Amino acid sequence: MYRDPVQSLQPLHGVPAAMRPLRVGMIGIGTVGAGTFGVLARNQALIAGRAGRGIEVVMVAARNLARAAGIVGPGVPVTDDPMRVATHPDVDVLVEVAGGTGPARGWVLAAIAHGKHVVTANKALLAEHGTEIFSAARAHGVAVAYEGAVAVSIPIVKALREGLTANRIEWVAGIINGTTNFILSKMRDEGLDFAAALAEAQALGYAEADPTFDIEGIDAAHKLTLLAANAFGTPVRFADVQVEGITALQGRDVACAEQLGFRIKLLGVAHRREEGVELRVQPALVPAAHLMAHVNGSMNAVMVKGDASGVTMYYGAGAGSEQTASAVIADLVDVARLDGTQAAQRVPHQGFHPHAMNTLPVLPRAAVRTSHYLRVPVHAASHIEAVAALLAELKLPVQQMVLAADQPGSADAHQVLVLTAPAVQGTVDLAVHALQAHPAVAGTVATLRVETLG
Ligand code: HSE
Repeated sequence: MYRDPVQSLQPLHGVPAAMRPLRVGMIGIGTVGAGTFGVLARNQALIAGRAGRGIEVVMVAARNLARAAGIVGPGVPVTDDPMRVATHPDVDVLVEVAGGTGPARGWVLAAIAHGKHVVTANKALLAEHGTEIFSAARAHGVAVAYEGAVAVSIPIVKALREGLTANRIEWVAGIINGTTNFILSKMRDEGLDFAAALAEAQALGYAEADPTFDIEGIDAAHKLTLLAANAFGTPVRFADVQVEGITALQGRDVACAEQLGFRIKLLGVAHRREEGVELRVQPALVPAAHLMAHVNGSMNAVMVKGDASGVTMYYGAGAGSEQTASAVIADLVDVARLDGTQAAQRVPHQGFHPHAMNTLPVLPRAAVRTSHYLRVPVHAASHIEAVAALLAELKLPVQQMVLAADQPGSADAHQVLVLTAPAVQGTVDLAVHALQAHPAVAGTVATLRVETLG
């Protein structure tokens, strides 16, 4: 049943904010919204005990009113007009968990313009429009909190913005997309093919509405954009991230990596160098003995290297209803504690106060320096020597070179596997170009980065 929230709410103007519950208007009551509503209800007393006051959902906007009413019950008005929730005078904080970037940008900016704090799990929105949104929030003295946007259950934004504030962060690297990690785990452990593993991830609710965002690395790039901004004090720069997903990854390379003692993971990496910042999402070889190689299923893990802390690592569920709710509610508790504070006293939106932010350039792909894995198909096993000679001539430093173990049933069984020492991408590209033109080479050369995460 539709009830107009404007008419059904009790006006609370004039009641000091700190004496009444924090009043939440929620846009979207899908997987994340329903989880947030459920956890808020279940843990009401303990959350209030931590926040210093209650946190109540006072209205919800949803496309399907009947479904929404079924979730929130008769006590919470529902509307199909998100903008009314965003601008309603009795909403203190907008929780935007509808997703998407077009309309969501409008709701969030409208809420900010009406003096409301915003909590969102919408990584695409902030990765693409963060600069505009954070700037508007500063102008209006309100908070925009987004712990649920990155590696949901892991409080990594809080770790970067608060726990690690003493450090010059050197790099952040992690498995920050649950869907692709689930797919890679299923392919490796159960021999599932890509399509079957993706279908299972979708059925479990891990994948984005458009799973292309997951499998092409875009979702991870959205999250990496936010991690890098908080780690280095740089603006959000989604357009500058080098993005590669897992759709072109071949099962053969998963097996060859295993032979060399590595596992392949889709990693997001933000690395501060003297000349700028590397921002990249790509499938990479990780040593099989490393903790990161054992992050399986839809789990996420993020490592942060600080100059004082050294390497720290954070592990938890990267997707899921209540797992995301955990982060959204943590943000709400932070907002509930803000009353009486001046904006300048609060944790800055991106970890650094605006005057201290910097514009370190993002390094071009050709300048990124890592070790590499190459798989070179050759006509005969003896051609390994020709590959070695060519790489030596091109001055690509090689650490290991072996023939791939026989692949039963494979027509092109001779594969030379190469692990290089760290080299810039430009040098590797030249080597691959030269290999591709060599008469000993029998097919397309595959390359992947190697990340030792040391
Ligand atoms: N589709 C995302 C993932 C959901 O698989 O990680 C959480 O952001």
